[in-house]
Amino acid sequence: MGERAIASNSGSQEERDFELSLRPRWLREYIGQQKAKENLDIFIRAARKRQQALDHVLLYGPPGLGKTTLAHIIANEMGSDIKTTAGPVVEKAGDLAALLTNLSEGDVLFIDEIHRLNPAIEEVLYPAMEDYQLDIIIGQGPSARSIKLDLPKFTLVGATTRAGLISAPLRGRFGIPLHLDFYPVSDVEIIVHRSAEILGVEIDESGARELARRSRGTPRIANRLLRRVRDIAEVIYEGKITDAVAADALNRMEVDTYGLDEIDRKILLTIIDKFSGGPVGLGTLSAAISEEKDALEEIYEPYLIQIGFLNRTPRGRMVTPAAYDHFGLDAISRGEQPALF
Ligand SMILES: Nc1ncnc2c1ncn2[C@@H]1O[C@H](COP(=O)(O)OP(=O)(O)O)[C@@H](O)[C@H]1O
Ligand SMILES: [Mg+2]
Repeated sequence: MGERAIASNSGSQEERDFELSLRPRWLREYIGQQKAKENLDIFIRAARKRQQALDHVLLYGPPGLGKTTLAHIIANEMGSDIKTTAGPVVEKAGDLAALLTNLSEGDVLFIDEIHRLNPAIEEVLYPAMEDYQLDIIIGQGPSARSIKLDLPKFTLVGATTRAGLISAPLRGRFGIPLHLDFYPVSDVEIIVHRSAEILGVEIDESGARELARRSRGTPRIANRLLRRVRDIAEVIYEGKITDAVAADALNRMEVDTYGLDEIDRKILLTIIDKFSGGPVGLGTLSAAISEEKDALEEIYEPYLIQIGFLNRTPRGRMVTPAAYDHFGLDAISRGEQPALF
């Protein structure tokens, strides 16, 4: 299996088209995240009533939980257009200026991975967000001059997997910060049913539950697993997804009952085997398993921490007893000193 079955980022174009087909377009179709949804609903209604642009929104949470989806929903609900870009793509202040000056009144500017915006460019955003003003320096050396432009009243929607990496001045300029958390299994189940209906896949309650349980509380993963399970259901079974079919398909994909895959297991078992369960520093761990530090922190660890298999301590990462139990390991291989008496 080349591509990670439970990768939480979107890979190929085909993958992106698939995701797009399943993307809710309105707040009422967006499942779960009740708190974020309720707040957003109120702010959107208030802004619409006053016929003003919505305040700037910061969406943060692990990959695949619906940040991009929400950004588009916000524009839809406001009846506005959305222009999208991403932190690493905006290379020069001029790039950002071009984006900003092309906006119309009430438009949404979506900046994905906003924590990766270059700090010098970030500063252009401050007056733009606060006063809808663009302060920009044109030219270099003695002929350089600063110009000020009025911008239309727009809404900046920023998304990030790493709220901690956003500078305080930038964070402070978002009037509506919304945190997305992993979905409970019951919400993922609803998402699976919704997606199955759109895709014309037959799935029963037990099948949806089994799939949901193994999707790491992440809609993107649930949708992706659904697609793979459907293939197996069609080729090997009669087509309908039951719990037995889902379990067999997911086992074949080496996605275990907690939704952990090869890489998660490698992370946990490496800490157990090579570092006696930890604590081990991020850099050391990253070298030991040949995975990028960023990927570890952004993609793998949040879920392992959420299910209580991993702890981040000041001295490093530690595997918990629950993880030992999951692998059927006992106290001695836990690296604990056996009791003397
Ligand atoms: N609350 C939700 N209800 C239904 N589907 C969702 C929800 N959140 C996300 N999805 C689905 O999950 C996929 C990934 O969502 P996306 O917005 O791209 O995540 P993110 O931008 O946070 O990585 C999308 O295809 C979308 O259909
Ligand atoms: Mg996204």
